[in-house]
Amino acid sequence: DRQPIIAIDGPAGAGKSTVARQVAAELGLVYLDTGAMYRAITWLVIQKGIALDDECAIAELAHTCKIELTPSQDLKSPVRVWIDDVDVTQEIRTVEVTSKVSAIAAQTAVRQALVNQQQNWGKKGGLVAEGRDIGSHVFPDAEVKIFLTASVSERARRRQQDFKKQGQPEVSLEQLERDIAERDWKDSTRKVSPLQKAADAVELQTDGMNISEVAAQIINYYHQKL
Ligand code: C5P
Repeated sequence: DRQPIIAIDGPAGAGKSTVARQVAAELGLVYLDTGAMYRAITWLVIQKGIALDDECAIAELAHTCKIELTPSQDLKSPVRVWIDDVDVTQEIRTVEVTSKVSAIAAQTAVRQALVNQQQNWGKKGGLVAEGRDIGSHVFPDAEVKIFLTASVSERARRRQQDFKKQGQPEVSLEQLERDIAERDWKDSTRKVSPLQKAADAVELQTDGMNISEVAAQIINYYHQKL
């Protein structure tokens, strides 16, 4: 018997992380950021100077590296991420990692290794897992499945705000829109578990909604289902 699982999927910049963390905190569930795992491997690939298309070397790395995520209790501070005992919490959010992660996440062996680990962590349930393939592939039997979306322009605006808050160099809205649209395209056209709304997921279009409103809707829906 496992505890409930909430799966939150959706395109880049739809607010999944912030919303998932808030929902997890309010319901006393563990938050699992699966994108951070793909980002951590990408960082390691860059760090080791491995070519993005060297699938053999990357497969080897994916099966041997050790990824740890420490959920922070404080909603304002980031979830800490380690790969092979290196703290990469900040490094995995750079423009370089963000621009390369989709190419790594498209590789079968990488997905096998990470999905396996996610399913192990999820055995007992009691979590809010967020990513691209959670409801469709990682936890197909999740009690609650949400597909979170927003228009490209809204998502670019939110990203720009995030960068500002983090003190990162300013990027234009046009550039952010292009980057987001490109990542959407790569993530939804790849062969292995592409970004896709699961048939039984509820779609939440969040343009004009704030985080608390989105979180409240998900919590409402959770109480209805359980
Ligand atoms: O959610 P985040 O933007 O951190 O995800 C980074 C990238 O990791 C995505 O663009 C996607 O390529 C990949 N990803 C994935 N499957 C997941 C989570 C993330 O392919 N479950």
